[in-house]
Amino acid sequence: MSQRSCLSVILAAGEGTRMKSAMPKVLHAIAGLPMVAHVVKAAEAAGATGVALVIGHGAEEMRKAAQKFAPKAEAFVQEKRLGTGHAVLAAREAISKGYDDVLVMFGDTPLIDAGALAAARQKLAEGAAVAVIGFRPPSPNGYGRLIEKGGKLIAIREEKDCSDAEKKIGFCNAGMMAVAGKHALRLLDKVGNKNAKGEYYLTDIVEIAGAEGLDVVATEASFESALGINNRAELAEAEAIWQARRRRQAMLDGVTLIAPETVYFSHDTEIGADTIVEPNVWFGPAVKIASGAKIHAFSHIEGATIAANCDVGPFARLRPGADLKQKAKVGNFCEVKQATIEEGAKVNHLTYIGDARVGAGANIGAGTITCNYDGYSKFFTDIGEGAFVGSNSSLVAPVTIGKGGYIASGSVITESVPDDALAFGRARQKTIPGKGKELRERFASAAAARKKAAE
Ligand code: UD1
Ligand code: CA
Repeated sequence: MSQRSCLSVILAAGEGTRMKSAMPKVLHAIAGLPMVAHVVKAAEAAGATGVALVIGHGAEEMRKAAQKFAPKAEAFVQEKRLGTGHAVLAAREAISKGYDDVLVMFGDTPLIDAGALAAARQKLAEGAAVAVIGFRPPSPNGYGRLIEKGGKLIAIREEKDCSDAEKKIGFCNAGMMAVAGKHALRLLDKVGNKNAKGEYYLTDIVEIAGAEGLDVVATEASFESALGINNRAELAEAEAIWQARRRRQAMLDGVTLIAPETVYFSHDTEIGADTIVEPNVWFGPAVKIASGAKIHAFSHIEGATIAANCDVGPFARLRPGADLKQKAKVGNFCEVKQATIEEGAKVNHLTYIGDARVGAGANIGAGTITCNYDGYSKFFTDIGEGAFVGSNSSLVAPVTIGKGGYIASGSVITESVPDDALAFGRARQKTIPGKGKELRERFASAAAARKKAAE
């Protein structure tokens, strides 16, 4: 089958009113990726060599988004929403290029799996002209019913056009189908709009192909993979299903999730075997974790690269550009952004490291802050190998701490420190014997005088 060319036509022109959103429905995300991008990924995984995106509502926003998640997709605007059959024809130019298979998909069905699509394509390879993907929802209400006879699909009847007997059929149209490229335009051009909704129904090509004596079949997909999203409650349902699948996959790949239902993955999280993830961890986009890392509870991680055997959290925040080399440690209430923490370096408590490098084996004391921003520009802090930064220090960038440099606690470091030097950046301590007692007595008698005056 792999040698057959395939165009995926993804319908995404609808407004999605029930989302109650200024943003087109299919741009709402699951695991941080727009729904329609999940659909594109599934199409590509099923062997689609071309992608045509049919857009309408919010066309400009859709084009922009598509450039990011599907740069190879071609966008076609459906000016008026006259039905799914009409929508597919908006991509006439792409279809007429002569693909072997045309795979029609919906942009709002993000959990569709490549296996279901490939199964439908397989039917075309075996000679069918149309293979419709069916499913059995808990309630068939609202879906088109698949009407079969002798192993062949003879019609798809929309709910509004169904007889009472047809309404009892539980096998429904998931909306997606594979159509042999050589027949696609001819069949689509024969679709009319004489039905209860006055729309051009894609589903009519089943009867049209049958009338031409062509072979039409139905395949079956799981309910989940055919789940269409219409409102935000359904969006959350799809997110939950996606997360459950991803967690399971992570565990099967050798990752320990102590409380899997509390860990949230992004669509692109990479995580190596023998990593342990404690409860309540959130992964944003672009996180890569090698094997044997420990991610402690309540950590929030995005755009970070974490090498083998690192230790992160609890309550760590790793932001984009955080790059932890082997055995680095970023502990509780630490934030790291656009910074490399070299091998074995420790940033353990209550610290902000931004636009910086922390050299191998360096130790950053509690409460250290890299002051990287003057309100206009960002500046770099370079901390050498084996350096020791005492607690509560402010490193005012741009600044360099040399290898083995030693920073006294509470310092404000504004000038670079050479290798192996000790730097103090604070006022010297002054101790006055007996002065504490004297002050206490003075304050006590002043308070007593005030109290008396108020009586
Ligand atoms: C469609 C199917 C129905 C199936 C159901 C599964 C048809 C006629 N009906 O019905 O058999 O059970 O999906 O969810 O195909 N769209 C456009 N342009 C249009 C019309 C629709 O781009 O002119 C897009 C929508 O944005 C949406 C998809 O096509 O992504 C499906 O359209 P929708 O109106 O939701 O179809 P249903 O009535 O749900
Ligand atoms: Ca729908």
